[in-house]
Amino acid sequence: MKKTRIAVLISGSGTNLQSVIDKTESGYLPVEIACVISDRGDAFGLERARKHNISAFTVFPAGNASREDNEEAVIEVLMRYNVELVVLAGYMRLLTSRMIGRYRNRIINIHPSLLPSFPGTDGYGDAWRYGVKVSGCTVHFVDEGCDTGPIILQGVNPVEEIDTFESFRERGLSVEHRILPEAIKLYCEGRLVVDGRKVRIRGKE
Ligand code: GRF
Repeated sequence: MKKTRIAVLISGSGTNLQSVIDKTESGYLPVEIACVISDRGDAFGLERARKHNISAFTVFPAGNASREDNEEAVIEVLMRYNVELVVLAGYMRLLTSRMIGRYRNRIINIHPSLLPSFPGTDGYGDAWRYGVKVSGCTVHFVDEGCDTGPIILQGVNPVEEIDTFESFRERGLSVEHRILPEAIKLYCEGRLVVDGRKVRIRGKE
């Protein structure tokens, strides 16, 4: 199978990036990780990428450059590396409609809650403080809203009586590390069909 060229965008530790790297190296994912882009120079994920000989860049808001200008720089890297699918794995920036339009249904994001509950930057914290009994995570296509795009996969993380916030979050991350690669694989196999708000998965009927 032809390999899909993907870019992974990060802002932090990059444990999701690591799961994508591991599942690429094991042969589970038919992808080439063309590049990793971070908006923070100190993101540990950059080191993870370099350790695996993946081109890694920092593109961040410099001086008084506009959000659009910065994103142009991101798009420039994506085009240079001939990227087909953009994976947001803990990338803490909202994309402009220009980029979303350009990569329509080719940008996916992992979010740490069962959307539409708890969108935004602190999915684990918000769900934990609210006191839900079941949480989880969501992989979705990115649209112009904040965590509102069509849902590809969700994974469940039940809250146990003995949980601390840390154990809850740790278990949630392990669910993320499973479903993000699964969603990427479905995309690469051409099995995702976006129909309005719904994403049908071919071959699962
Ligand atoms: C994950 O919880 C992801 O869902 C959220 O940011 C976190 C990134 O973690 N958007 P990591 O950098 O992949 O370890």
